[in-house]
Amino acid sequence: MKILVTGGCGFIGSAFLNLMVPRHKENEFVNLDALTYAANPMNLAGLEETGRYSFIKADISDEMQVRGVFQIEKPDWVVHFAAESHVDRSILGPKAFVQTNVVGTMNLLEACREIWGENEGHLFHHVSTDEVYGELGDEGLFTETTPYSPSSPYSASKASSDHLVRAWNRTFGLPVKITNCSNNYGPRQFPEKLIPIMILNAAEGRPLPVYGDGSNVRDWLHVDDHCEAIWQVMTSGKMGETYNIGGDAERTNIQVVEAICKAVATETGTDLDSKRDLITHVTDRPGHDFRYAIDTAKIKSELGWQPAHTFEQGLSETVAWYLNNSDWVETVRSGEYRNWIDQNYGARS
Ligand code: NAD
Ligand code: DAU
Repeated sequence: MKILVTGGCGFIGSAFLNLMVPRHKENEFVNLDALTYAANPMNLAGLEETGRYSFIKADISDEMQVRGVFQIEKPDWVVHFAAESHVDRSILGPKAFVQTNVVGTMNLLEACREIWGENEGHLFHHVSTDEVYGELGDEGLFTETTPYSPSSPYSASKASSDHLVRAWNRTFGLPVKITNCSNNYGPRQFPEKLIPIMILNAAEGRPLPVYGDGSNVRDWLHVDDHCEAIWQVMTSGKMGETYNIGGDAERTNIQVVEAICKAVATETGTDLDSKRDLITHVTDRPGHDFRYAIDTAKIKSELGWQPAHTFEQGLSETVAWYLNNSDWVETVRSGEYRNWIDQNYGARS
């Protein structure tokens, strides 16, 4: 079977490919990615040597490019990670979010419809977010039937894409599954998201910018646990269904930052207070959702999925990864990886 993975050079897509390509020797994997600022193909070093992995640079918001790739590759399954993913960027510039997350998703759905005919043996797996449900107060959990109420341009664009996927299933019979996951963390996350920013700033003695009072709550899940859940839904989940994925690890942002200070102080043998003193409360994010928390009963009871990492263990391993991989951090920060992309794949997106 040929599986087309969109956005495979990003944080979660690359974790997915690094886990699944070596393991599933019966399958061929094609990675379609536009190589935006968030992509780092160096995350996938070594996969081409398996002979079952290939890369195609293409932009999902370009209908002709997408149709061309699908006509040539004729994938059996598609797993769709590609997106503009950062909430703060969506507030500064929403257009790219609509182009990639909404128009791009529609282009993929249409390309599948064009090549799949009777749909037998095919699957479009849409990777989405818990942010489509909006925010929770102190109580309650998001279930698969929670009404959509997105707050940011990012979450509104992801909500739109979820609706398109369901519409293509109902109207055209396209075989689809959707997963809505909580906040991921782990190695190789681009240093614009909370956890990598805080690790690197704490290590380097720079301010730790906490939005507002730091009482907002997120439910954290290790990226590998998310990828295992996606694979389980792809292979065993019911067609047309939605599954929520979460870590049962609710933490306030300030708890996360405190935990990072502690882990960095321990790893680097420095004084904890010198790290905690870096915490700086800054202007809050506009429209900042207060709390996300996931009811994982469906995926656990139907598919037997369980996260393998506790947040404490996963976070200290992630801190150690960033501190021990200064080459990766340096290439991403300096933009050196962009030169490598230009040399290997031509002009940048
Ligand atoms: P990321 O920003 O790290 O990576 C996104 C990837 O998509 C990059 O490789 C980028 O080059 C590619 N891409 C962007 N625009 C493209 C386009 N027009 N055409 C082709 N490729 C394009 O994102 P991530 O954190 O790995 O998230 C992956 C998916 O998971 C997204 O759909 C996101 O909404 C979803 N998700 C993320 C989280 C999280 O915590 N990061 C949680 C739940 C769901
Ligand atoms: O819930 C899933 C979503 O999680 C994904 O769909 C998104 O792609 C992903 O980016 C993430 O969104 P968040 O906005 O929750 O993640 P972020 O890391 O940007 O922020 C986490 C929390 O930390 C949030 O409450 C805002 C806060 N924050 C963030 C940054 C970058 C800070 O306090 N300071 C910061 O510098």
